[in-house]
Amino acid sequence: MTAIPPTLRTERVDARDKVTGAVRYGTDRVPPGLLHAALAVATIAKGRVTSTDTAAAEAVPGVRLVLTRAGEGELASAGFLLGGGYGFQSLQPLMDDRIAYRGQPIAIVVADTPVAATEAAALVTATYETEQVSLDLDAEGVEVVEQAATLPPMFADLVAGDAEGTLADCDVRVEGTYDLPVQHQNPMELIGCVAEWEGDDLVVHEGSQNSGAIRHGLAAQLGIDAERIQVISPYVGGGFGQKNSLQPGTALAAIAARRTGRPVKLVSTRMQVFHNASFRPASRHRVVIGADRDGTMRAAVHEVDQQTSRHDLYPGSYTEITARLYGIPNFRGHQRLVRTDVQTPGYMRAPYEHPAAFAFESTVDDLAHQLGLDPVAMRLANDSTADPITGQPFSSRHVTECLRRGAERFGWERRTHEPGSMRAADGTRIGWGVALGAYKGAAVPAVARITASSDGGLRVEVGGHEMGQGIRTAVARTVALDLGVPAADISVVVGDTRSVPQHLTAGSWGTAGALPAVGAALGELRKALGLAADGPADVAAAVAATGQANVEVEATYTAPGQPPEIVLDRLRRGLPAAGGPVYPGFTAFSFVAHFVEVRIEPVIGRIRVPRVVSVADCGRVASPVTAASQLRGGVVWGIGAALREASEVDPRYGGFLNADLAEYTIPVNADIGDIDVDFIDVPDPLLNDIGVKGLGEVSMVGVAGAIGNAIFHATGKRFRHLPIRLDDLLG
Ligand code: MOS
Repeated sequence: MTAIPPTLRTERVDARDKVTGAVRYGTDRVPPGLLHAALAVATIAKGRVTSTDTAAAEAVPGVRLVLTRAGEGELASAGFLLGGGYGFQSLQPLMDDRIAYRGQPIAIVVADTPVAATEAAALVTATYETEQVSLDLDAEGVEVVEQAATLPPMFADLVAGDAEGTLADCDVRVEGTYDLPVQHQNPMELIGCVAEWEGDDLVVHEGSQNSGAIRHGLAAQLGIDAERIQVISPYVGGGFGQKNSLQPGTALAAIAARRTGRPVKLVSTRMQVFHNASFRPASRHRVVIGADRDGTMRAAVHEVDQQTSRHDLYPGSYTEITARLYGIPNFRGHQRLVRTDVQTPGYMRAPYEHPAAFAFESTVDDLAHQLGLDPVAMRLANDSTADPITGQPFSSRHVTECLRRGAERFGWERRTHEPGSMRAADGTRIGWGVALGAYKGAAVPAVARITASSDGGLRVEVGGHEMGQGIRTAVARTVALDLGVPAADISVVVGDTRSVPQHLTAGSWGTAGALPAVGAALGELRKALGLAADGPADVAAAVAATGQANVEVEATYTAPGQPPEIVLDRLRRGLPAAGGPVYPGFTAFSFVAHFVEVRIEPVIGRIRVPRVVSVADCGRVASPVTAASQLRGGVVWGIGAALREASEVDPRYGGFLNADLAEYTIPVNADIGDIDVDFIDVPDPLLNDIGVKGLGEVSMVGVAGAIGNAIFHATGKRFRHLPIRLDDLLG
């Protein structure tokens, strides 16, 4: 790209508003007459509510409503997001007496103040009939479901060639079984909403990645027309997949608001967010890799068991990336779902890719070690230009460049091969590890509308949600660079159903959906204003010349090969309509290489990560400031996953024992050393006109693998579970 003039350099466009507190998140809203709601939750893990006692709750001063069961016809399930519905799960609390998981709401309490609502909710008691529970992959009473035989073809096993047959005559075989724990996303902003009725119309303010699903899901739940519902989600205080759908509390708040005739705010507690929203399920991976003595990988098997709930099948897509990390011609993926007694698990940043890459890249590291090969050189020798599953070319793939550049920035050539061979003077063991990551290049339909004003202002409305990743900045910068105007003149509207249709923002497809639509709308604007097809433009003068105050244009984008009428219809109904990673004629993935140094202190075995180098291939970098932040954030998440985070299942009563930010340990400032990030920044020629692929999730993929490999290099010990904590290193 040509050098950007300083006036067009785009920092995070909402940074100032954020750091000065000017940004209003969903539940910051305080309409006149606002009431506050709190949830009472089940204290058993499975069974039936036989009676509830609400007298004490109702006696708390200021309590307006205690609701334990919705009325006849008042509430329906919105269905499961992956089953044609809108909810994080199909089970909607307060519809019957069944309890499917610990922490399931049994009542909503509404009061004049949050304190009164919370006090009253704690006074709601229930009696139960309890049933036996199955809480983890190995529990008695789980039900194991073959995914390929049960779910639609898009969830079929990925297979190429003959993996088992080839494994049998490979020179070397390595194998490992890996256990990955339950984790929770823990965005800083809790799940919550404000529901307000204006006559028969409902307005919901809620931090969400999917305002369209809230709108259409509530319509289904409450039996009203979606046109009468608006959902406003201008900023999200972190989503990470947990806010990708309709939450079960939103309809309850809407019903409470209707019954009381007042606006109602419901904010879940942190503990409730652990128990009544999605999470990263436990998974177990068996990986087998076969290779020639020179390190050429010829065959691999990747089998996965993943936890789901009793009431929904949350599918697995773990092998989607492990089939593509290398040019392994014989590959067999297999995925099974294990029904346990929990709320339905779901997406958490790099939901499949992070666990899958940890398992696969640890096994690749074992192979390099066993063959006495350098793990970077062995990876370079196994790169591929074609997708082993479909035989199609990748739209773009710069894995070799990621590895070479990363190795150089890291100083990899100074690594000595033998485990335990690098030590500091005080006996600290030093380990250097590498791993690759990949993430599908998905794309979603989007509508973009641009309104240009004679005062030079530009308003851009597009499908997307701002959860801190920087979609507003990427959109503003694209428009600023195209027209040669300052980003400050551009306002970007996202996450608002009063504007253009809003698709789920997830799967790292935010920019890859929004920017092509914005690019097309810019083309329309130039036509409407009689401007040249490219180059800087005097938009204010061109609008003034039309004699109108504003000129408005609109454009739509659909992914390559997707039938526009079908996906645009799904978009307008608030349903997921993502395409990829396999498109007609090409397969699209983003890639990353992570290089990690660990230092293990001699006495207590404390593991530190003083430095990481990460180089990503995400196509064109649409917004350098926020892209660097995404990549660093992904690395921090990887450090958390590798060394800190796990939700501890309560084996007695169900639920999670460490359901707060004191006991669910995440990395803090002192845990993070130097994170050096770099980008290939070569536009993808096929996925869209702008040349962007995804970045948000690939950033995290492979970090835990690189850390595990570095720990192996430091100690000679291979850990096949996460997190790896100092008790693993004692003894
Ligand atoms: Mo992301 S876990 O696809 O919101």
